[in-house]
Amino acid sequence: MFKKISMCVLAVCLILSFSAMASDHAKKKPVKKGILLVSFGTSVPEAQAAFANIEKKVKAEFPDVPLRWAYTSHVIRHKLAKEGKQLDSVEIALAKMMDEGFTHVAVQSFHIIGGEEFHGMYQNAKAFAGMSEGIEKIIVGYPLLGTEDDMKKATDAVIANIPKERKKDEAVVLMGHGTPHPANAFYAAMLYHLQQKDPNIFLGTVEGSPTIDDIKTMLTKKGIKKAYLIPFMSVAGDHARNDMTGDDKDSWKSILGKEGISCVPVLKGLAEYDNIVAIWIEHLKQVYAHFK
Ligand code: CO
Repeated sequence: MFKKISMCVLAVCLILSFSAMASDHAKKKPVKKGILLVSFGTSVPEAQAAFANIEKKVKAEFPDVPLRWAYTSHVIRHKLAKEGKQLDSVEIALAKMMDEGFTHVAVQSFHIIGGEEFHGMYQNAKAFAGMSEGIEKIIVGYPLLGTEDDMKKATDAVIANIPKERKKDEAVVLMGHGTPHPANAFYAAMLYHLQQKDPNIFLGTVEGSPTIDDIKTMLTKKGIKKAYLIPFMSVAGDHARNDMTGDDKDSWKSILGKEGISCVPVLKGLAEYDNIVAIWIEHLKQVYAHFK
């Protein structure tokens, strides 16, 4: 008899604990929305200041939303790790956010076009959505140039940022990164938009087309004698400092200099201009609106 009772108690206990477990599992996680900002990363102090400025702007726009950063360049992450600064990749940042119970994450990167790097990041970020007990929804915002409208806005912003002392018969040559990815076509499209507004603005790329030789031909045909060299990259890093304006014979400054075109470099990345940052933040707002 005693044995029977104790078996019953045990059975009841088991059922109770099972149902407790079941309801624990079935309980939906409370909604927790967050933002993940993604940059290539930089060790250039000016660019770090630009990212701090972006953070301030995002916080002003989303005062109650937790904000995290991720850096896609492992070279830069390792370099900064040696200085004792621990920076997360997109994957680590999202894993941490998953652990912290985030259910909705808006990801906004500071890429210029949707090229290889952007799509790699997109693919990995999306892989974190829909994991068992993980983040329910992850939406990735467009890069700077995602639509025709973005190109028009970026064109106006770039023109507004040209140094005031530049005269109309002097050229502005923007340096984009360029890529073998099909999204490279955005650079030629952007060149078209720029030229619609000001035929002496040009845009070439380091690793795609239009090349600097294409641009050189256009400039010499027009008899241009002076050009402002401006990076069309989020950060004025290595490419701007070496490939654009270095003393090496392959730099854009040297290539154009050989044609008798004197060059004035402007070492400022796109992320340092508020009117460009506004386009990225607009994309983040569009993405975040899907969570409401
Ligand atoms: Co590069």
